[in-house]
Parts: sequence; C-alpha cells; structure tokens
Amino acid sequence: MSIKYPYNPTNHLLHVLFEEQQRAHFISNNAIQNISKSLNLPHAQVEGVVEFYAFFHREPRGQFDILFSNCTSCGDAWLRQRLCDKLNVKLGETRSDGLVSIDQTSCIGMCDHGASLLLNNSLTITSLTAKRIDQIVKLVESSTALQEWPKHWFDISDNVHKRGLLLTEPFQPGSALKVMIEHNPPEILNEIIVSGLKGRGGAGFSTGLKWKLCREAIGDAHYVICNADEGEPGTFKDRVLLNSYADLVFEGMTICAYVIGAKQGFLYLRGEYRYLLDTLNATLQKRRETGLLGGNILGQGFDFDISIIVGAGAYICGEESALIESLEEKRGIPRIRPPFPVTQGYKEQPTVVNNVETLATVAKIVLHGHHWFESHGTNRSKGSKLLSVSGNCARPGIYEYDFGVSLQEVLNDVGAENVQAVQVGGPSGRLLGPDHFNHLISFEGLSTGGSLMIFAKHRDILALIHNFSHFFAHESCGFCTPCRVGTRLLENSMSKLCNGHSTAYDIDEIKHISALVSQYSHCGLGVSAAHPILDGLKYFQKSFEEKILKKEMEPEFDLDSELSEARAITDRDDPGAHL
Ligand SMILES: Cc1cc2nc3c(=O)[nH]c(=O)nc-3n(C[C@H](O)[C@H](O)[C@H](O)COP(=O)(O)O)c2cc1C
Ligand code: SF4
Repeated sequence: MSIKYPYNPTNHLLHVLFEEQQRAHFISNNAIQNISKSLNLPHAQVEGVVEFYAFFHREPRGQFDILFSNCTSCGDAWLRQRLCDKLNVKLGETRSDGLVSIDQTSCIGMCDHGASLLLNNSLTITSLTAKRIDQIVKLVESSTALQEWPKHWFDISDNVHKRGLLLTEPFQPGSALKVMIEHNPPEILNEIIVSGLKGRGGAGFSTGLKWKLCREAIGDAHYVICNADEGEPGTFKDRVLLNSYADLVFEGMTICAYVIGAKQGFLYLRGEYRYLLDTLNATLQKRRETGLLGGNILGQGFDFDISIIVGAGAYICGEESALIESLEEKRGIPRIRPPFPVTQGYKEQPTVVNNVETLATVAKIVLHGHHWFESHGTNRSKGSKLLSVSGNCARPGIYEYDFGVSLQEVLNDVGAENVQAVQVGGPSGRLLGPDHFNHLISFEGLSTGGSLMIFAKHRDILALIHNFSHFFAHESCGFCTPCRVGTRLLENSMSKLCNGHSTAYDIDEIKHISALVSQYSHCGLGVSAAHPILDGLKYFQKSFEEKILKKEMEPEFDLDSELSEARAITDRDDPGAHL
C-alpha cells in the first residue's frame, strides 16, 4: 500500500492530537472517539498513541503547561523547585485553579544554553536564572497571553564555535542538485559509496550501502526519512543544522530520493523542536517555488516532495523502526528486525532512514566530490563530525572537527578545566575519565553520535549516573520485560546507592541486572541502558566504594527478635518457628 503524493501532514494523528491537546489541555474519551472516526483509525490505536507519547495527557493540564528539562546539562533541579514553590504547585501536578502545571521532561536539546524549559509543548525558554524564573511566575500569575511574553526569551542561538568541512562556507540552495542532475542515479550512488561516508546518527552504517540496498529492493514506492528526533541527552547538533542549514539537509534528502527512486520524503522532527516547524516549512515552500522540490525538479522530470511530521516526546522514536511506526500513526515501538527498513520500512516499502548530519554531508559530497571528502578524517572514518559540547566548560556549543581529533584537544578548545569525566555519545555512550582523554574521536576509536557532556571535579559522579538511569527507565517503551523491568531496577539500585543504603551485595546485583538488560533487550535502548553504570563501576570505582555501607549484606532488623511475640502467643519455640 502506498500513500497519496505529496503527503499532506495536516491530518497526521500526532498533529491532530497536538491540536486537541492545545485546545482542551487534555485528550478526553470523547475526543479519542471523534478523532478515531474522523481519521478512520481504530479507537484502540488512537487511545494507545495518546497513552504512549509524553506530550499527550488524559487529565487536564494547566493553561500554562511547563515542562522543565531534567538533563544534567539543560536541567536545574534548584530552579525547577523555585518555580514550583513560587507558583505553589507540586512537581507533576496541575494547580487546583487550572492555571499551571509543572513537570519534568528528558533533555530538550538546549544543553548549550543552560537551564531550559518547554512551555505548552511548543515554545522553549533557555538560559534560565532565578530572576527569569521570578519573571515567569509573574506572567503566569497574571495570566498574560504567551504572545505578550518578551519575544527574545524564545530566541535560541546556534553557538557554533568551530567550523570545518560541513559548516565553513555558506551553502547556495540548489548548488548540489545542479551537480546531481548532470549524473545518473547510479553515478551519484557510486560517489556516496566511494566517499566512505558512514551514518552520523550513532551506529555508523555505510550510507552508500544503505542506499544501494534500498534502491535494489522491490516495492510499490520508495521513501526517504530524515531522522531529526535527536533525543540523546547532550546532543543538539541537528537542531543547529535544521536552524541554519536546512537547505543542505533537504538537498541531501532530495539526492537520496534521486538515487533510490523516492517521490516522498519525511522529516521526523522531535516534539521539543516544534519551534523550528514554521521556518522549516517556509524553506520547503521556497524550494518548491524555485524548482528545487515538488514536481519536475530543475526541469528534469524528477518529482520529489518532503513533509514534516512532529513527534510528541518519546526518545525511543529516534530508533529508526520505532520512528517508522510513529510515522504510521502508531505507538513508537521498535520493530523486530529483519526485515530492515531498507526493504520493508514505511508502509512496508523500501525506506532509507538517515540522520540530519548524514544528509547534510551527502549534499556537500555531491557538490565537492568524494576526493574532497576522503582527504579529511582517518582511514576508517572519513570526513568531519559535529560535536555538541555542554556541561562544565567555558564555551559550550557546536564544534566541527575532522575525525581523529583527540578528546583532550576538544577539551582544550572548549575551555574545560579540572575535568573529572566526559560522557561521550550521551547516556547510551561512554562515561570516561582522564585516562581516556588522549583517545581519538572516530568510528574505530571513540565513537559518538555527537554529544560530549563535561563534568568537572566538583560534580557528583553517582548523581550523574543516577540521572542517566532515570532517563532510561523513563524512556523505555515498555515493550520487552528485560528493559521495562531492568531499567527500573537499575534506577532503584542507583537511588539506594546515592542515599547511602547499599552494601557490596547491591553492587553485585547491579552488575547482574546490567548484564541481563544489555543481553536480552529487544532494541538499542535496553542494550545500552547500563553503559553509564558499568563505566562508572569500572572507571570511577572509588565513588561507588565511598557510598557502600558494608562489605556484606546485613539485615536492617533482627528477624528473630521481631518474631518473639508471635512465638510466645502461639507457644512455639521449635527451630521452624524461628524462620
Ligand atoms: C534508542 C535509540 C535512539 C536513537 N535516536 C536517534 C536519533 O535521535 N537520531 C538519529 O539519527 N538516530 C538515532 N538512532 C539511530 C537510528 O536508529 C538510525 O540508526 C539512524 O537514524 C540511521 O541514520 P544514519 O545511518 O544516518 O546514522 C537511535 C537509535 C536508538 C537505538
Ligand atoms: S529495549 Fe526497551 S525501548 Fe527497546 S523495545 Fe525493549 S522496552 Fe522498548
């Protein structure tokens, strides 16, 4: 089954539910009934979607619905509490007068801007301070309409500090497509294959090979999807690319479509980046008007269009098969693979899913040729990598390096001193100490989707690991038991440890559970959920040991004496009565 071309995103279930949530501040039974009828979708499917995504609610939320990031870089528990106290509302609750709700959410991708929050699931306020919190309180208490809030509060700058291959020169829209149409699709495919480009979304699969497999797969239609879900805490490079280099990304998608024979593409934008939607749609429209998108692109009889679908607060939707499920108006649960998306993806048709940075890089390769690209990076990692740097450093932001740069060089450039640890690649990546700072960033060395979170010596390592284990437990989609239960157990174990109630026995338990979660989970989330804990145990052993109460498990009460009264009543003193 194929879709109507070009796809009109207005009636996508996620968008219809978003509008309803904005209007009524929740999704009622009635609304579910009506929406399922009007979209001709099963009631259970609509209900399942509402329950699955964090930005939809079954109970009314406040007129001002505030979600405070709880990320180690763009969150701040003290400011969050100040907001709750001043507005007299408990975290996770809606005030009884219905004016305001405050809750926490996972990283919102504003790690270079300090403490940040989301307002009514559509606006973002960054660089929060106690003063700004107090100003927000005043505006909320006076029910001031959002249009009257200071406009500059919602401005989000790019913070690009170092430009390389991708970001150095301004990109002329259409310039890569003009090179593209001088070649046939197999020639362009070959250019991508020989360039050695590997996916920038984390897994590092060969982009050319992915496209080749998709191109060769038989289907009624082929699709290209740009994965702009960017939910890994500490990662915000795709946000910057979409904000200032959207033409580059859309051009990369169009080149992919040319190679694989797609007429329709989707950009799946994370809900937290909704503020970019209007500008992105305007860029798409401009491209249509200038013959770079839509029917008969550059007069060459090649048709391709792009629609944007906005997610609703589920990290798991960054996993490509969960993303496809979400695009298909379902809960974002990862599919069993194989089959892979390249043969059976969106609507069971051959589909390429690529990261934003990968697609932007494709456009540059086509423009300048594979030799230009290959001459940068290392033998097995060609080209450059965008790093999103945050945490304890003087200049957080985006840094572009050729692959092969050492972690220490990056730390020097960003002004990081007294570094205790760096989380490379977000919570699902690696937690590393100074012994690793001479390692090189590359697929064969220190691999990363782009997040570098820096932690100075004063930071509590266990609290950071606890934060990451909370993240995984919260974001687990719940489909498989090892991950659903295991991530929760790991979070509980970390709470116990941080509160100083653990013994050596608990550490053994943590290791045991970590092994089970990594080994038996269905998708990458569960497989990597224990990484921060295991790295912590390996490289920051002292922090763990300092918190451990006793080497051996000791019961906190004397069972025998607790039972003595019952024994007296029942007149038993035999050995069995002591169990
Ligand atoms: C839990 C999980 C979350 C992911 N989140 C993202 C994401 O936000 N963006 C992304 O490009 N890839 C993400 N990925 C990887 C994608 O599944 C996929 O490999 C990637 O989009 C492929 O693009 P690339 O080949 O250009 O890297 C995630 C994977 C997992 C397991
Ligand atoms: S590993 Fe976790 S996130 Fe992945 S499918 Fe299982 S429950 Fe869902």
